[in-house]
Amino acid sequence: MKSTKKKNEFDKKFYIKWMVIAMTAIWAAIAAVWLSMHNWDTEESMKALAQAFTEQPAETEQQAPAEQEEPAVKEEQEATEETEQPETQPEEQPQEETPAPAPKDATVYPEIDQLPSEPTIVNGILLANKQHPLPETYAPGENAEARAAFDSMAQAAAKDGLQLVAFSTYREFARQKQLYEGYVAKDGQAAADRYSARPGYSEHQTGLAFDIGEAGQEQHWASSSFGDTAGGKWVKENAHNYGFILRYPQGKEQITGYMHESWHFRYVGKEAATAIYNENITLEEYLGI
Ligand code: DAL
Ligand code: ZN
Repeated sequence: MKSTKKKNEFDKKFYIKWMVIAMTAIWAAIAAVWLSMHNWDTEESMKALAQAFTEQPAETEQQAPAEQEEPAVKEEQEATEETEQPETQPEEQPQEETPAPAPKDATVYPEIDQLPSEPTIVNGILLANKQHPLPETYAPGENAEARAAFDSMAQAAAKDGLQLVAFSTYREFARQKQLYEGYVAKDGQAAADRYSARPGYSEHQTGLAFDIGEAGQEQHWASSSFGDTAGGKWVKENAHNYGFILRYPQGKEQITGYMHESWHFRYVGKEAATAIYNENITLEEYLGI
């Protein structure tokens, strides 16, 4: 009995002894791992240990989300940038995608119910074209200043052996109507509209338009061939000195509304005529309309 009791006591001591050894080994291993995690720096390891049981866990928990938040913010920024683009695009797109305004086509008559009650005057210059009609009752007769300017020009041309003639100047509304309807009957409206103004739209109704030809050269009157004659070339190069412009130049039909007319000159005064000639532009371009 005695030896059995002794044996039990021995077993118990033996078990406790090894338990202590095992626990010590485990703690030593944990300490070694902890030290190795902190570069074997005891001071740093102790601080880390202290922080592990105080504020550090909270900070690390905050840091982790903070680290995650950074990309999240970036993603948000990127996402914002990405989403902002479509947001700004619809604002910009209409501007970008809005078709550029179609170039104005001055050959087209706007639909209007009635002719205006006043003529259009831009910068002191009376304007008559397909977009700017005249009142039916506008009947000023031939412009005296324009006639005087033509006479001066004709005198100068005569010195160069050219007998200029103004074969059509002022035309009242009713006369233009008669002419236009005759052209429509002969050539059809589309063709007539390219060379003849509808009543109320003709510069001839202003008294400022002069159809010019040369005496003895009637075959070239109101014909593009006039531009190839000596008289036609002289007028084209000198008319601005007397205040006239070639009103319907070659290649400007979309701006003036009419095909080239080498014989149709319009009095606008020397200053405007000289600028228009020098800049090789039309009256519409000069007036900025
Ligand atoms: N021939 C010009 C365009 C007019 O009829 O007034
Ligand atoms: Zn004319």
